[in-house]
Amino acid sequence: MPTMGGLIVFLVSLLQLINPSLAYSLKNCSIDYSDDPLADVFVSCFSRKLVTVPDDIPRAAVSVLLSNNHLEKISRGDFNRMSKLRVLHLTDNHIAHVDDGSFIDLVVLRKLYMDQNKLTNLSASIFQGLSNLTILSLTSNKIEFMHPSAFRFLSSLQTLLLDSNSLRQIIDIHPVLLLPHLHNLTIGDNLFSSFQTKDLPLNMSSGLKMLDVSSKHLQKFSITTPIFPQIQVINFFRCANNLKWDIPDKTLVRSITQLYFNSPGMSFVEIQKVLQSLDSLMHLKLNYVSRWIRKGLLAMICKIPKLRKLDLSYNHLHNFTVNLIACSQLSELDLTNTYLTELPKGSVESMKRLTSLIVGTNWLTKVPDDIRSLYSLEILDLRGNLISDLSCEDFLNTTRLMNLCLIDNRIAKLQGCVFEHLSDLKVLDLSHNLLWTFGGTFKTGLQKLEFLDLSKNFLTNLQRGDFQDLRSLKRLNVTSDYISRVKHNTFDGLNNLETLLLSLPLYYESNFKGLRHLENLTIYFKIRDTFQNPPPAWNNETLFHLTSMKVFKVVCSGDHYGLPFDVPTDMLETMRHLEDFTAINVYISAPDPETFWYNPRLKSLKLGMTDLSNLDPGMFDPITKLQALDFSESNLKSLDFLAQANLPALRSLKLRGNKIMVINEMVFQSLPALTYLDLNDNPFTCDCSNAGFIQWVKSNNQTQVVNAYQYRCSFPVAEQGNMLLDFDIQTCRTDINFLCFISSTCLVLLTLLMSFIYHFLRWQLVYTVHIFLAFLYDNRKGKKGAAHHYDAFVSYNIHNEDWVFQEMLPVLEGEQGWRLCLHHRDFQPGKPIIENITDAIYGSRKTICVISRRYLQSEWCSREIQMASFRLFDEKKDVLILLFLEDIPAWQLSPYYRMRKLVKRRTYLSWPQAGQHPGVFWHNVRRALETGDTPAENTDLLTGPAEL
Ligand SMILES: *[C@@H]1O[C@H](CO)[C@@H](O)[C@H](O)[C@H]1NC(C)=O
Ligand SMILES: *[C@@H]1O[C@H](CO)[C@@H](O)[C@H](O)[C@H]1NC(C)=O
Ligand SMILES: *[C@@H]1O[C@H](CO)[C@@H](O)[C@H](O)[C@H]1NC(C)=O
Ligand SMILES: *[C@@H]1O[C@H](CO)[C@@H](O)[C@H](O)[C@H]1NC(C)=O
Ligand SMILES: *[C@@H]1O[C@H](CO)[C@@H](O)[C@H](O)[C@H]1NC(C)=O
Repeated sequence: MPTMGGLIVFLVSLLQLINPSLAYSLKNCSIDYSDDPLADVFVSCFSRKLVTVPDDIPRAAVSVLLSNNHLEKISRGDFNRMSKLRVLHLTDNHIAHVDDGSFIDLVVLRKLYMDQNKLTNLSASIFQGLSNLTILSLTSNKIEFMHPSAFRFLSSLQTLLLDSNSLRQIIDIHPVLLLPHLHNLTIGDNLFSSFQTKDLPLNMSSGLKMLDVSSKHLQKFSITTPIFPQIQVINFFRCANNLKWDIPDKTLVRSITQLYFNSPGMSFVEIQKVLQSLDSLMHLKLNYVSRWIRKGLLAMICKIPKLRKLDLSYNHLHNFTVNLIACSQLSELDLTNTYLTELPKGSVESMKRLTSLIVGTNWLTKVPDDIRSLYSLEILDLRGNLISDLSCEDFLNTTRLMNLCLIDNRIAKLQGCVFEHLSDLKVLDLSHNLLWTFGGTFKTGLQKLEFLDLSKNFLTNLQRGDFQDLRSLKRLNVTSDYISRVKHNTFDGLNNLETLLLSLPLYYESNFKGLRHLENLTIYFKIRDTFQNPPPAWNNETLFHLTSMKVFKVVCSGDHYGLPFDVPTDMLETMRHLEDFTAINVYISAPDPETFWYNPRLKSLKLGMTDLSNLDPGMFDPITKLQALDFSESNLKSLDFLAQANLPALRSLKLRGNKIMVINEMVFQSLPALTYLDLNDNPFTCDCSNAGFIQWVKSNNQTQVVNAYQYRCSFPVAEQGNMLLDFDIQTCRTDINFLCFISSTCLVLLTLLMSFIYHFLRWQLVYTVHIFLAFLYDNRKGKKGAAHHYDAFVSYNIHNEDWVFQEMLPVLEGEQGWRLCLHHRDFQPGKPIIENITDAIYGSRKTICVISRRYLQSEWCSREIQMASFRLFDEKKDVLILLFLEDIPAWQLSPYYRMRKLVKRRTYLSWPQAGQHPGVFWHNVRRALETGDTPAENTDLLTGPAEL
């Protein structure tokens, strides 16, 4: 589908237009992957031992996390042009100095966290540019001086956290209080010993809603001027014992609705006074104030008429009666971690308005009886107690209960009637108990239940219809390490279930037929150590009609003993809408290529603890919409499978902990949408085989290779422990070394070739050269058919010169009158010898070869023959006359196989055979010289083949 690919490429480039530096490999940070390609860029540089702000943070970043590093200062330019940055975390560094104007480009920054640093003063221009900042945290620095103008740029600031610094004077915060939108201010744990509004200008008014001035040093808290008309919350989280509260006029604090104490920071008499002055108090949080409670504070609290929410967590309540009997006005009560062994009868009975009761982390052994009369209760949290039994009366009258949390108790079994009356219950959490059976509990009532967690219990059997009445259930968690049997039709009736987590035994009869709305299924298999038979894999009887499935996860624990345990393809076949598939320790080796044939909508695929070294890229054919692929720890040795996989939409690829040593960067050309690549923990080879990949990591501006700058070399041994990206790829490029390498390789190859040719093909080679020369000659001189200077060119060896001059010349030139060309006599001096030969042969009608053993051994002579035989074969002209001066047996001729071929095909004249009759011999030569050019004409004139 080329249009599809084109569209994607177009979208990707569009994306890059919008967000030019969306993603690339960062030296010290990583960009979080998000499912949404247009999502904001979150950059994390958390805990990287950074000393300076990295210069490669993408300018498009929306959030930058630089916490937990060793930054010592922030310089102008560190955050240049980051005009999209909304959140900046600089917590837990050593920052002692910030250059003026360092944040000037951060015009949309909303949250700046600089707590736990070493700032000592805030200069006038430190926050210049931060006009949209709403939260500024400077907690736990050493600030002792703030320039009066330091905050003038922060016109949108709502929350300022300045606690745990070294400020001495209240007047220092005057400019802060003038900020138009400031609502929350914490200045606790500084060095001032009193907070008195009279130290601030009298005529000012602040919009502050929350104030925390609590400190070990604070002796006096006094509001004597109408400076905080809107103040709602006062925190005393850290206080010494002797705080004096001085508020002569109740009306100055009539807006206060919430008060928090985290220790008995004042005397009992003092706290009584405080509570009496706060007529509007609605929410009181008193942690670690057992001392006050022992003195009877609770009775006092119950007299606060508007109080609705009381948090008494972290108090020792166990030795005295929790007598809140008069607190009938409360709607929320938190008694978490108060050492209660029981909630005494009558203690909360009167709270008819109570909607939320939290009694978590105590030592209750049963559901308190008082709860039966809390008719309005909607939320009941009893987690972390010792409750072992639930009776049928426990929740008899709390019929409005919507959320019941019983996590982490000792409940072993349930009776059918326990939750019978909870017709409004939506959330029931029974995880981390000792449940092994729940009888008919979920067969009646609970018609509005949407969430049920039964995990971390001792369930062994799931029966047919166990959950049949839970018609509204959307999420069910029944995972258990002890499951041994899941019967047919267990999940019948769960028609609205969307999310199911369950454990299955290896043998099960379950039928998921009714789960028409199931979108999210997680199955845990446990293979026991005692397991010996082959795994039954998946029950063939099982009917999966999971047509709505979107997310499917299968996790198998235990050893397969090398036996296959694959998810059956026909199970995946029903999941036509599947988008996310995870299989951990399920497949032993790569799944069949057909596995995902019916899951074309798959967007995310994760296979864990599977040997994928033999993966067939055909597996990806049906799932071209894949966006995220996780093949971590899968024994992969190369990425080559990707080159053939068609994955145009793949954006995230996680291949951690594999065995990849060398990567061919060309595979990324087949992944046009890739933006996130995780290759941590692979044994990279640092040599030129990875040069292309290294270059690609550093230079491509689309794909971020996560933590690439931290990858180390495993090979070769000399590079072990070095950084992959530090490997100098220059040595692999077009420099001298590389040229030398290439040219010596070529030279070696050429030499090999030459010796091969010389050894086996020299004849053909030489012949080709001569054909070429002859061809050149023909073209150059146009001698074809031109008049000949000579009748014959005589080719002979210097050792036969005597015979030529004494026997041959006198007869042929003298008696018969031929014009002969002899190279010792007629060759032009100074001309290259090969040219002379060519000229001689082409300038003569015939070529006479005077053949002897020496002649055959002489290189030049055989060239002459070649040239002449070229004329013979190529021009179809009969030019060769062979005169044998010696009888040469065939076996001696065989090294000159071409000569042998000629001799076999043609007749020749033999001087020894002529013997006593040289006249016949010369007559035959004459006839041969007289003949024309056609080879056929002269076959009869020769003496015939000798016995060679
Ligand atoms: C940032 O503040 C400026 C005014 O200082 C305002 O015009 C702009 O809309 C604000 N931007 C955001 C994203 O709040
Ligand atoms: C101010 O503090 C209150 C109470 O601590 C908190 O609920 C609220 O979210 C804070 N407001 C801002 C803008 O941070
Ligand atoms: C609680 O009471 C027991 C005896 O009943 C006593 O030993 C213990 O000190 C008391 N604890 C507190 C915190 O009062
Ligand atoms: C609970 O309700 C029943 C009637 O449904 C009533 O008889 C009983 O007294 C109530 N229990 C309490 C403790 O109020
Ligand atoms: C059970 O599954 C649900 C998902 O629906 C999850 O929220 C819950 O945390 C799980 N319980 C435990 C104990 O993991």
